[in-house]
Amino acid sequence: MDYSNLRVNAKRLRSSLEEMAKIGGTPGGGVQRLTLTDEDKQARDLFVRWLMEIDCEITVDEMGNIFGRRPGRNNALAPVMSGSHIDSQPKGGRFDGILGVMGALEVMRTLHDNGIQTERPMVIVDWTNEEGSRFSPAMVGSGVWAGALKLDWAYDRRDVNDKRLGDELVRIGYKGGAPCKFFPVHCYYEFHIEQGPVLERERKKSSVHQGIVSLLWGDVYITGEGNHAGTTPMDARHDALNAAAEMILRINRLPSRVGGNMLATIGEIQNHPNSRNIIPDLVHFTVDFRAWEGDIALHAWDLLCEECQGIADRYGCPARFEKTWHVDRSPFDEKLVQRVLDVATEFGYLNMLWVSGAGHDASYTNQVCPTAMIFVPSIGGRSHVEVENTRWEDCEAGCNVLLHCLLRGANELEQKK
Ligand code: HGY
Ligand code: MN
Ligand code: MN
Repeated sequence: MDYSNLRVNAKRLRSSLEEMAKIGGTPGGGVQRLTLTDEDKQARDLFVRWLMEIDCEITVDEMGNIFGRRPGRNNALAPVMSGSHIDSQPKGGRFDGILGVMGALEVMRTLHDNGIQTERPMVIVDWTNEEGSRFSPAMVGSGVWAGALKLDWAYDRRDVNDKRLGDELVRIGYKGGAPCKFFPVHCYYEFHIEQGPVLERERKKSSVHQGIVSLLWGDVYITGEGNHAGTTPMDARHDALNAAAEMILRINRLPSRVGGNMLATIGEIQNHPNSRNIIPDLVHFTVDFRAWEGDIALHAWDLLCEECQGIADRYGCPARFEKTWHVDRSPFDEKLVQRVLDVATEFGYLNMLWVSGAGHDASYTNQVCPTAMIFVPSIGGRSHVEVENTRWEDCEAGCNVLLHCLLRGANELEQKK
């Protein structure tokens, strides 16, 4: 069957994205749909309703990952799969994650409308807690599914209000009964905004990335001595925030020292008691390292521990350095990468190979099944902020590439060597 003229319904894709953007919508035009909050539940419920409208079989697993399955002619064959995440950053954007879930839904709706039955079943997935903002680390739902993270460890993750991930799953009614364990998948494609400036700068419409960088998250805890701001001489202080400030400046100089295009971000800090006239006695801050090359992030972490321990000693402030999470870099399946390039070129979309600095659930699916991603430009290269934006025609273009990559995969009989 020749599907070369088949295209997605761009208007419907846009209206689904706009519908989802109302859930947790923020005054600045972004969204706040933190994982396992009421807003996440509301969006999940809407997603499930839409899946049922196209007769998908719904499965929710122990981590709250939602799978919608569309049968094929031969359901003994491993399915093709596509998806991303519905949760967002606090004051995040209207495209990060949700574009990949709505894009995969639009593919299924297009097949449903046209009565197209594929050889293989097709599965769409919403992964729980991709962002890792409320419950650290990121990509927990896909990490447990891929066998890289333990279920009970994931359940025990706590947010800043000491709420437990496992309890929040129960509270919103998405702690499913299906085992959170990977099953055979013929190929997994994830459709996502680039979240950076490269595609726009290079004037490309789409890109397929060779892979995703390695990510390392750490937590630093510094204990000082609380005291009166007006009576404690400067040379008699153990000021935890002062020690933290010196550590943070040192950490931000690590990338230029270790090379390899490593990125370092201190994105979150808690200072206690956070009162203008009390010397801080406890500071926690987070560390986010990323690098494509080898063990650079791990090497940078070792340098951080050694040098920040020296700073802590100088301030007389005991410190604790916890490596919370590390996921290796994910080089994608070359055959799938080539397919995305071929399809984009057939459609006349300028595209390029690149490496994603943003982490995605594909980092984990790539460990258990052939995986590749399709990216579209972010206007101004902005993401994880309310002004995050992507042109509707680019959403349409990327979704058409996703449609044909999934179609070809779903009608492939032999396991690609
Ligand atoms: O942090 C990341 O790269 C992803 O957007 N969660
Ligand atoms: Mn994302
Ligand atoms: Mn994100």
